[in-house]
Amino acid sequence: MNRIIVNADCGMHKINKNIYGHFAEHLGRCVYEGIWVGEDSPIPNTRGIRNDVVAALQKIKPPVLRWPGGCFADDYHWMDGIGPRKKRPRSVNKYWGGVIENNHFGTHEFFDLCEMIGAEPYVAGNLGSGTVREMRDWVEYITFDGNSSMADLRRQNGRDEPWKLNYFGIGNENWGCGGSMRPEYYADAYNRYAMYAYNFSGNTLNRIACGPSSDNYKWTEVMMREVAANSTERMHGLSLHYYCKTLDIAAVDDDGGWFELMRKAVRTEELIRKHSTIMDQYDPDKRVALIVDEWGTWHTVEPGTNPRFLYQQNTIRDALVAGISLNIFNNHADRVRMANIAQTVNVLQAMILTEGEKMILTPTYHVFEMYKIHQDATLLPIYLDSPDYEFGDSAIPTVTASASRDADGHIHISLTNQHPHGDVNLSIEMRGTHLSSLSGRILTADIQNACNTFEKPDCVVTKEFHCAQIVSDTELKVALPSKSVVVLELS
Ligand code: AHR
Repeated sequence: MNRIIVNADCGMHKINKNIYGHFAEHLGRCVYEGIWVGEDSPIPNTRGIRNDVVAALQKIKPPVLRWPGGCFADDYHWMDGIGPRKKRPRSVNKYWGGVIENNHFGTHEFFDLCEMIGAEPYVAGNLGSGTVREMRDWVEYITFDGNSSMADLRRQNGRDEPWKLNYFGIGNENWGCGGSMRPEYYADAYNRYAMYAYNFSGNTLNRIACGPSSDNYKWTEVMMREVAANSTERMHGLSLHYYCKTLDIAAVDDDGGWFELMRKAVRTEELIRKHSTIMDQYDPDKRVALIVDEWGTWHTVEPGTNPRFLYQQNTIRDALVAGISLNIFNNHADRVRMANIAQTVNVLQAMILTEGEKMILTPTYHVFEMYKIHQDATLLPIYLDSPDYEFGDSAIPTVTASASRDADGHIHISLTNQHPHGDVNLSIEMRGTHLSSLSGRILTADIQNACNTFEKPDCVVTKEFHCAQIVSDTELKVALPSKSVVVLELS
């Protein structure tokens, strides 16, 4: 029996809206071209930031935006990115193709972007190659309201009031591009840097530590033991990076390693469960959040593009990965309190692709638009009995789901069917509520590599979903098409 039970009266945890967060790095054409075109550009912009991209992002309600990296962050010196743009130094973006970084998009431009799109800023500080002083001065520059040299410098550069900064990363991937550190070494460095990343002028930083890659459980263990267990105030979040990689396959290949990609997406559940179990030992009250601040698909780059620019198309396959991952994050809302898909524009699993003045929305964008109803809603616990999707000797669940109740009392159930060919008939039992109305939306496609292109931007878009019906005041039947993401609204 393919069955879901939704416990509509048992909600205990809020789905933190930050699970629907984003990440924009100085990498390839994400920041430059994708977001920043400069004030003199013929592409319509406001203070140098593309209007079309801002308008598109506003529609998916981005709650938080992480910047400036990624690997770029631990080689970024923030003072290069302030002051008159013409005078800003030109540096080399060594990690991402050795291109020249003109630093025209810096701290002020980033906070301006966040204000335009309604997202909270999440700044990643430089622990790998920056000094403790450089990091603490950046925090002072951004948040101090008195008359210090840093705050006065900010005023000279056009911003009188300090900004509010809730989220601050103390390094990025310090086990790799952020300094190749052992966890024990990083834990000590973290303690030192985090101590001087002060709270100024009533601003409270949530300090986020570099966490593990994928299944590096040792890293989590050491960080929880050496940092979280010793101080309740120093570490508010531990980041997890997990990419679903099919590195030798292009996004638009027709089968494109479909099963393998779905298997990797479903594995997110196991990773979160195991890291959470380790965290629970040191932090049973779940004070430290698990922050999946880089996730998404990673395919081979589009032909003819710079391999270090990580530019890939985005198909219904990527949309499935988004739907699956977000369902898993929702269901772990007690511990996962932020996630940031990589990346916002033109890099990896992007929301938006641009070509000169043209812009298209990807299938992944549409998943974020459909799922935004879960933001800050109450998670409803579910029981899911999914049929297996078998491939060779392996099997994964065919269906993932999550459910929430919003402030107006509407219940939303998001569903994925990751099987490329098989439809699934589902029975959904609603406990603790009575059904009176139902509507739904679906994102699906006829072929496995369906995508939106600059010539045909609307191939994969959401439609009304008519294959769900109320069969009694506590039961629904749903015919879930293959390769689909569906969101139902019930009241
Ligand atoms: O998102 C691309 C890169 O992936 C980031 O810069 C890095 O943190 C990760 O390895």
